[in-house]
This record gives sequence, structure tokens and C-alpha cells, in this order.
Amino acid sequence: MRIFLDTANVGEIREAAKLGFLDGVTTNPTLISKEKRKFDDVIREICEVCPGPVSAECITEKFDDLMPEARRLAKLAPNVVVKIPLTREGLKAVKACAQEGVKTNVTLCFSANQALFAAKAGATFVSPFIGRLDDAGHEGMQVIRDIVQIYRNYAFATEVLVASIRHPLHVLEAAKIGAHVSTMPFGVFDKLISHPLTEKGVAQFLQDYGKIPR
Ligand code: E4P
Repeated sequence: MRIFLDTANVGEIREAAKLGFLDGVTTNPTLISKEKRKFDDVIREICEVCPGPVSAECITEKFDDLMPEARRLAKLAPNVVVKIPLTREGLKAVKACAQEGVKTNVTLCFSANQALFAAKAGATFVSPFIGRLDDAGHEGMQVIRDIVQIYRNYAFATEVLVASIRHPLHVLEAAKIGAHVSTMPFGVFDKLISHPLTEKGVAQFLQDYGKIPR
């Protein structure tokens, strides 16, 4: 499973990228607004720090507006993936982008049927928001199971990008199901590495090493 960071904070991305296996970044207008910088500047800098796919979200809604916006965003850097909301107009734009070779991440997906349509439109990625589904009293992870099964049934090329991840168990479940990608806040990314027993074990081994005669 590929690991993406869900943030627009370049400091966090640099930190995660130091590990050498950060696979990509997802952003959205809410995340970019927290940075108090120009949208395009943030996307360009993220694309330099992380060579993997970097999602930049469209803010227009109609097909005729989405297409020029998608083309403009795609030109910001070679690794930009254009994020388009899962609406009727959005799906039309996804189809047109696929025909033009513009990579897309279909966002705000909340059902397996929506994901089926995203795949039929030729989306590069689909982003089901599992945390927001959980918040609304549904089982977000069941939607991931359904989408992965449907995509396997019909050999769709669209990749399942598990989004709105809130905690490490979400990542574990997504990996067990076989989702292609998980995108997560830096806090969750960090928690995946740390374990109190690892820290305790390292300290103990260090202490005992000191007792070995030289
Ligand atoms: C994904 O691409 C979105 O940016 C993100 O995962 C949304 O997460 P949230 O529900 O925590 O805002």
C-alpha cells in the first residue's frame, strides 16, 4: 500500500519525506487555507519536495469551468493530480481529463456506487472519505471493502485512495483490505512508526549493552 500525507504543510511533508518512502501528498482547500500562502505557491513547493502524485483540488463546479481549471492545475508541476469532486459535472470533467491525459483524484466519495462511476469515468484515483462516514454513524471501512471488491471484479484501473483517515486502525484495515493508497495527517503517519514497547526495548538493550565487558 502506498502512503500519502494529507496536508499542505511543507514542513510536515519534508519531515515525512526524510524517511525516503513517502509516496505522495493530498491537499484540499481547507488544508491550504491553514498555510496562509498562495494556493499555487504551496502546490508547486509540495511538488518539489515530494516527487510522487500531489493532489490539487478544483474549486469550480460546472464542466465548462472545471476543464480550464483542471488544465491550469495540471500545468503547475508534472506530478500534479487534479482533484475533482464526485458530482455529475465533476464526472464529465474526469472523463474529459482522462481523454486529455490529465490525472484525476475523484474526491468527496461516500459510496461504492459513486466509486463505480468514478472508475467508469476513468479516474486515476478515487477518494472515499472514511472518517467523515464514521462521524456520520456509518462504517466507512465497509465502503472501502465494497469498492475494492467491485474494482477487482471488473479489473478497473482506478486506484482506491483511502481518505479522511483519523487513526492507525484505519490504515491497518485499509492495508488488510488491499486498498492501493492511504492518505493521512502527519499525526497518524507518526503514530504508525512509534510503539512504546519499541522505545522501551531500545532503552533496555542500550542499558544492557553497557554491562557487556569490553
Ligand atoms: C483527502 O484527500 C482529504 O483531503 C482528506 O482526507 C479529508 O479529511 P478530513 O475528513 O479529515 O477533512
